[in-house]
Amino acid sequence: MTAASPETRTAALSAHGLVAGYGDLAVVRDLEITVHPGEIVALLGPNGAGKSTTLLTLAGELSPIAGEISWFGAPIAGPLHRRARAGLGFVPEERSVIMSMSVRDNLLLGSGGIEPAVELFPELAELLDRRAGLLSGGEQQMLTLARAVARRPKVLLADELSLGLAPIVVDRLFAALRDVATTLDIGVILVEQQARRALEVSDRWYLMRRGEVVAQGTSDGGLDVIQRLYLADHDDSATSAVVA
Ligand SMILES: Nc1ncnc2c1ncn2[C@@H]1O[C@H](COP(=O)(O)OP(=O)(O)OP(=O)(O)O)[C@@H](O)[C@H]1O
Ligand SMILES: [Mg+2]
Repeated sequence: MTAASPETRTAALSAHGLVAGYGDLAVVRDLEITVHPGEIVALLGPNGAGKSTTLLTLAGELSPIAGEISWFGAPIAGPLHRRARAGLGFVPEERSVIMSMSVRDNLLLGSGGIEPAVELFPELAELLDRRAGLLSGGEQQMLTLARAVARRPKVLLADELSLGLAPIVVDRLFAALRDVATTLDIGVILVEQQARRALEVSDRWYLMRRGEVVAQGTSDGGLDVIQRLYLADHDDSATSAVVA
């Protein structure tokens, strides 16, 4: 972990009293969330809890209905491309590589260049001339993550990096993410269904349910708390989704 404790440092990105949704329909309410430089924060919760809506709003893809988003202590508004220039990286839920283009061209499109991407995932070096559409799902996510990290973001928002991937590939992606978060001081908000794996690489977690944060904590022992909360609600389907 980084030297100063999170509480004494300015958050890289934070939301205060955030209400978010679609048009007038609020699906996320009263959200307080922070991420500090070098810190990975897991945003967990069952399907429909509001995790993607939260990330889309933090990224500037959706306008907040109410509340405030701060970037290194100052209010931030405006669309994703403006936030991206300030150092916000966003990996959305849908895979965002361009399938008809080569790995090399996908990386060049990301403007962070090829070298830092290959440094993160050396596997990509021999795939540079291959069309992205011919890569395995895991290789596509390596490309996605490498392209985002190559731009040296200050904050990275990642939505379901692990979707549809084999456990060994998820471990590889998360280990790389943990490494760059620490070495490059990137604050990461990691939305995940796979709570167990996410907690292994996270410093803190928030648990969302029906549009609200219902619990939060540091990652040691987090799984116990999360499991207990869900079991207390007798909501077995949600339990299995969250602790998978
Ligand atoms: N474009 C939209 N218009 C209206 N409602 C939406 C829209 N997108 C999502 N919602 C609703 O907002 C709520 C939160 O959805 P969201 O996608 O943020 O959940 P999530 O936690 O990311 O779920 P999942 O784990 O399934 O990805 C859900 O009830 C969903 O139906
Ligand atoms: Mg989602």
